[in-house]
Amino acid sequence: MLVTGTGETSSALKIPHSSSHSSSGKMLQTTAYHAPLLEYSNELLRQPANSAIALLPPVVDMSSSRDEVCRAILDGGKEFGFIQVVNHGIPEQAIRDMELVSQEFFQLSAADKAHLYSEDTNKPTRFFSGTTFETGGDKYSMNTLRLAYSFPNGDSSNDWPSSPPRLREVAMKYMELTRGLGMELLRLLCEGLGLRSDYFEGDISRGDAALSLFQYPPSSDPSMTLGLPPHCDRNLITILLPSAVKGLQILYNGDWIDAQSVPNAFIVNFGLQLEVVTNGILKSIEHRVVTNSTVSRLSIGTFIHPTENCLIGPADEFLTEDNPPLYRAMTFGDFKRIYNVIKLGSSLNLTTNLRDIQENI
Ligand code: OGA
Ligand code: NI
Repeated sequence: MLVTGTGETSSALKIPHSSSHSSSGKMLQTTAYHAPLLEYSNELLRQPANSAIALLPPVVDMSSSRDEVCRAILDGGKEFGFIQVVNHGIPEQAIRDMELVSQEFFQLSAADKAHLYSEDTNKPTRFFSGTTFETGGDKYSMNTLRLAYSFPNGDSSNDWPSSPPRLREVAMKYMELTRGLGMELLRLLCEGLGLRSDYFEGDISRGDAALSLFQYPPSSDPSMTLGLPPHCDRNLITILLPSAVKGLQILYNGDWIDAQSVPNAFIVNFGLQLEVVTNGILKSIEHRVVTNSTVSRLSIGTFIHPTENCLIGPADEFLTEDNPPLYRAMTFGDFKRIYNVIKLGSSLNLTTNLRDIQENI
């Protein structure tokens, strides 16, 4: 079914369950939540990025049966590299508290944030602004507070800011809940893919996790100013709390498509390490953040990482004579170093195919 988005605007939002969109697994909707979902055609998706057509990353209802959830994650993830999860079990209060302390942090005076400011990308916990990514003269309108969480018990949180006063407590709880959700999604992926269920339990997920609070201020010229440049996430999996303000765009068939989320959903995307482990069955898809001229946008990302020394390559389960490894195994530390070099100093430049990058090494 292909509809134009006009004439049916009164229908309630239909959250597609895995069973209800099995024929294509792909849905579009117009920019308003309550607009009808549209099944996409390539023609529609080829419209300019600022058109009224938005991609709704496939919705995975985690209260469905385990089999259905597994299938929905795989179907949606294989097609887009992005899904959004609802009924995920994370209390709404924990989410609202996290948004509130994030807003409070960004409202602190510049002087109160100055001691946290650093452009040293090796510093695990720091405050930085878009200037960190200023490559080739591009400007990025973005401020970030990055909080590192080390294992086994989050000791590095002693470095987290002590102001606003509730930040440490709220962020710690939020980090543990969202990281738990990420680990559950990884277990579900294992089940769906036929990997042993503890595949992601060890070093591959126990590097320092990061909780990043992003503020994208409005810009005077959004057509010239991005919030984040096109990139793929280099980690294993990312759990993003998107804002009601749109801004995240996903590359699909060569077009930038607005990602739109339903209330209380987390947007989840696969990092490059998942692409490597699954030998390309799952793809890490390029995305970016655009700005607008009127409102600030806040988003919060939880990033699950491997340890620096963890060796990551395609899992044996996916390799046969007909399916040779498409990626080389390397430690996560080497991956980041090499990926940075190949990307001319920034992991955040327009990404070419990961396979091509590995061929150049
Ligand atoms: C990222 C990212 C998106 C957003 O930090 O890797 O893609 O909406 N963030 O902030
Ligand atoms: Ni990203």
